[in-house]
Amino acid sequence: MASLTIRKLDDALKKRLRLRAAQNGRSMEDEARTILRRAAGEDVRAEAQAGKRRGARRSTTEQPEPAPGAGGKRALLIIGGGIAAYKSLDLIRRLRERGAAVRCILTAAAQQFITPLAAGALAGGRVFTDLFDAATELDVGHIRLARETDLVIVAPATADLMAKMAGGHADDLATAVLLATDRPVLIAPAMNPHMWEHAATRRNLVQLAADGVSVIGPNAGEMAEAGEAGTGRMAEPLEIVAAAWTFLGVAGGDQVLAGARVVVTSGPTHEPIDPVRYIANRSSGKQGHAIAAAAAAAGAEVTLVSGPVTLPDPVGVRTIRVETAQDMLAAVTKALPADVGVFAAAVADWRVEKPTASKIKKQDGGTPKLGLVENPDILATVARRNSGRPKLVVGFAAETDHLIEHAREKLKRKGCDWIVANDVSAGSGVMGGDRNTVHLVTADSVESWPPQSKEAVARALVARIGAALAGAPR
Ligand code: C5P
Repeated sequence: MASLTIRKLDDALKKRLRLRAAQNGRSMEDEARTILRRAAGEDVRAEAQAGKRRGARRSTTEQPEPAPGAGGKRALLIIGGGIAAYKSLDLIRRLRERGAAVRCILTAAAQQFITPLAAGALAGGRVFTDLFDAATELDVGHIRLARETDLVIVAPATADLMAKMAGGHADDLATAVLLATDRPVLIAPAMNPHMWEHAATRRNLVQLAADGVSVIGPNAGEMAEAGEAGTGRMAEPLEIVAAAWTFLGVAGGDQVLAGARVVVTSGPTHEPIDPVRYIANRSSGKQGHAIAAAAAAAGAEVTLVSGPVTLPDPVGVRTIRVETAQDMLAAVTKALPADVGVFAAAVADWRVEKPTASKIKKQDGGTPKLGLVENPDILATVARRNSGRPKLVVGFAAETDHLIEHAREKLKRKGCDWIVANDVSAGSGVMGGDRNTVHLVTADSVESWPPQSKEAVARALVARIGAALAGAPR
């Protein structure tokens, strides 16, 4: 029988083989063997037999690297064993809707809740379950599973899975892949509130954060078990997708803000009248939070100073929650110096001069007189700093009429470099909505952007900021 010596292959072929082997985490000999085995059709027969055993798998072991979806992104979803696993089926759908190619691993416990068949049907491909499955190892292998992706998502991340991750265990396919991966990892914990609060889970969470793992959720609310409520519900699929996109949004793209420090304000402020009442506005914080997330995804070190919102803290962002305009200014000042400041918060213009320490009582035939004083203008204060002013200061202008005119005037009055102007008139649906139509107003130009999601506005703005920092004309 003829023998094949890799050393004797021509240089170009050797180079291609070396590259392929490295990409697939195999030795050159193993790679050559795999190619020959595939060419000989052996794997098709092996998988036909394995397929009969496993039922849920495809009829061939030929598992090409997942072709990136229309959005060019690949996600590896590890589904842990909890009742929230049913939501992960929807998560597969949502990720694919956004253009990501999804590969799935189900732990043994996950298969008690959902089947590989269901996950595979939604993912449009084979689902992986066993570390010691010869067909899987010969074909894709846990190293390839760990690397042929832009992001690893663990949802639901059970208390047990988190403990294994924190301890570096690798006794099944999911944990082996998690230990072998060099890609970002995002976990969506889900468990009983007592398990979430337990000192062991707290310790594991701290360890995972120190290891660079990002966490989304859990949320508070009713649990699956009757009569149980508290913090422990897995984040909703759309929240997980939004968090995932902070990684996938830049996969293969430029880290246009790598190394830059960015401070963002977001949300409304609450100005107390008495211990139970306050002055507020309708800002949801969606646009500011999306900007913070997009800047972090582009490589920036981001501090988000957020007023009271119901949104989760964006992944990969240092979030400081405040209530009042005065607190927001103090937090922003503390977060400086920065290269860029983006002031998207809807800061209350006035506060009550003397909020009372006890609740104001209703008075017969009279209404309380609230003395108002002006709040500090955070944007103007930062933009007019003599020392430590960010290189680029961006403000927002929410207007109901004469949008551009007012934005231009605001640019001068506040001393900022750019104003992102948006129409917030009643019919626009911007306040609290998911879409935005903005105009980028600079000292000498106005650019009108098409209507788009707030995430898309955030990404476009971050791209422009990156170009500005790189020296392109502002
Ligand atoms: O003056 P107006 O509230 O329309 O200005 C909007 C811009 O100024 C936004 O960028 C907002 O974040 C910022 N601002 C601020 N502090 C205030 C009022 C507005 O930073 N007190």
